Amino acid sequence: MAMRIPEETVNQIRQGTNIVDVVSQYVQLKKSGKNLFGFCPFHEERTPSFSVAEEKQIFHCFSCGRGGNVFTFLMEVDGLSFPEAVIKTAEMSHIQIDNALLENRGQQQETDSKRDKLIQAHEESADLFQHVLLNTKIGESAYQYLLDRGLTKELIETFKIGFAPHERNMLHNYLVGKEYEEDLLSETGLFVQRDNGDLLDRFYNRIMFPIRNQQGKTIAFSGRIFQSEAEEHSGPKYLNSPETYLFNKRNVLFNFDMARATIRRDKEVILFEGFMDVIAAWNSGVKNGVASMGTSLTNEQIHMLDRVTDRVLIAYDGDNAGIEATKRAVDLLSAETPFDIEVASFPEGLDPDEFIKKYGTTAFTELLSHGRDTVFAFKMRYYRKGLNFQNENERLSYLDTILNEMLSITSVIERELYFKQLSSEFDISLDSLNQQFQLLFEGKKAQRIKEKNTTNYGNYEPEPEVYYPEEMPPIEVQTQKRKIDLVEQTERFLLNRLFHFEEAWIQVQSQQAEFYFAHEEYQTLFILFENFKESVGDQDSIDAFIDFVKEPQLKNLLVEIEMLSLSDEIASQEIDDYIDVIARKSVLHERLKEKQTELREASRIGNKDEIRNLTLDIVDISRQLKNK
Ligand code: GTP
Ligand code: MN
Repeated sequence: MAMRIPEETVNQIRQGTNIVDVVSQYVQLKKSGKNLFGFCPFHEERTPSFSVAEEKQIFHCFSCGRGGNVFTFLMEVDGLSFPEAVIKTAEMSHIQIDNALLENRGQQQETDSKRDKLIQAHEESADLFQHVLLNTKIGESAYQYLLDRGLTKELIETFKIGFAPHERNMLHNYLVGKEYEEDLLSETGLFVQRDNGDLLDRFYNRIMFPIRNQQGKTIAFSGRIFQSEAEEHSGPKYLNSPETYLFNKRNVLFNFDMARATIRRDKEVILFEGFMDVIAAWNSGVKNGVASMGTSLTNEQIHMLDRVTDRVLIAYDGDNAGIEATKRAVDLLSAETPFDIEVASFPEGLDPDEFIKKYGTTAFTELLSHGRDTVFAFKMRYYRKGLNFQNENERLSYLDTILNEMLSITSVIERELYFKQLSSEFDISLDSLNQQFQLLFEGKKAQRIKEKNTTNYGNYEPEPEVYYPEEMPPIEVQTQKRKIDLVEQTERFLLNRLFHFEEAWIQVQSQQAEFYFAHEEYQTLFILFENFKESVGDQDSIDAFIDFVKEPQLKNLLVEIEMLSLSDEIASQEIDDYIDVIARKSVLHERLKEKQTELREASRIGNKDEIRNLTLDIVDISRQLKNK
């Protein structure tokens, strides 16, 4: 929806709103000093690091770095576009908006109403399917089948499971009777079109599982094949709705809507392969289970999970396909965000549902809570698949793979544990294992250094010293915050002053040489703020500047700068000192760049003397830069 709200209206709405009132509807805020604090709505946390500065009308999370003004907040928390966030703000603040905007909204509501109708058609279909399953003769054997599988009536109702009978016009007749138009019906994906244009029910003779979106509305179905004795049945075991206006299986996790509260509470999500597993787990009291729609995890699904938890337990089927899928899921999850991942493995090739049936609920919950493996223990098992340990070569290659994988384990204790396991299983002394591991480690270290040198040649950037301890791999600590050096810190201070003091501005403009920030993002903010001042003219309104800056990363940085607590007045030498520190660094940077260009040219024509001189210069400048 393309909607433009006049700048003036946007400002009026922003100024008529207190960010605290809006945020308070989502986050419980407590006053502490000048600011208000609470738990960040954008990620799980134990200590409140989300703050709202009422004076400045901005929010900022010290932990995840998100920040912005009231519009940014609503965009993020409700997934709105900018104009939608502006209108929502107006509504929350009871600010009258003019008719043109509401007309625009009319269009929006029209598309919404198509969406509503499609959803309603799905909800009514689910009701019908469930009615057939629970209350009719044709549903009887399917109902019995579900009871035999261990489902209860209550559970069937919770998940609104139903049955689509053999006749291929039941749903169509029913919905036409409810005055849905053919055009809309053909968009539901619930029908297939015959050559003569008639619509036939897509799903027949199947047990119907509604697929719900994050709001709990039914947007698709998956129908499980159901063999009633008399009939031949063909087709896939599960038949899903096709992609529709409502349904994109990349964005859907089965049961996410109902599991979300428990996921947040338990700070963990359990991933299953099939939705019968999710349902069986639910029946056993495990209510934080979800499943992807029969495909590998997508980035969209991982992102959904990332918003509610950082711990994932993978509980896929115990068969070969399940183990392969687990390996894939581990790789996908670790590539995206630092999730804390564990694996529950089911014996005898069972899937969770079958396991519960065979060993009972207690054994199941026991396995989930105490029988989990670390990712590494899982990999140890994974890599031994299909190997014959009687064969020396296969044994050695396995050990090599495992020791290589171990390079990424940062806990000494965990490593020790695996060494012991390997030692006893393969009858190799701890010493030998350790030596072999050291060799691999040295090799990796050498390779790392080599990679560093080759990638940096001709594009020399001074890098912070990396300290490699002699005995163990570097421990990689996941930190949200990058280390900031003196120059960068100074750039932040200066920008903060520039935002609020005209005198700082004048001082920067009066530099003899042209002044540049040393880092691109600060220079960008500087230029943007200059434009903002010229076009808007209201220097002291950073919450308005936030709308002016479009790029999310820059917005976050801007808020971080604005949140610095500096004294209320500028000290006499302050700005000059800042300029000094930054300018010196950027001069050195310029010089470094020139030398690098010259060096490339010298290398191209093969002037050896020049190459040596330039290299020495570059080393010298780099050292100066590092000592700043
Ligand atoms: P039950 O056999 O009823 O116990 O189902 P299950 O949950 O054990 O299914 P399975 O392990 O075979 O498959 C896991 C998931 O993959 C299912 O929940 C479906 O989402 C999906 N799936 C399985 N078979 C098919 C199929 O034939 N077509 C499609 N589209 N998806 C399938
Ligand atoms: Mn199963």
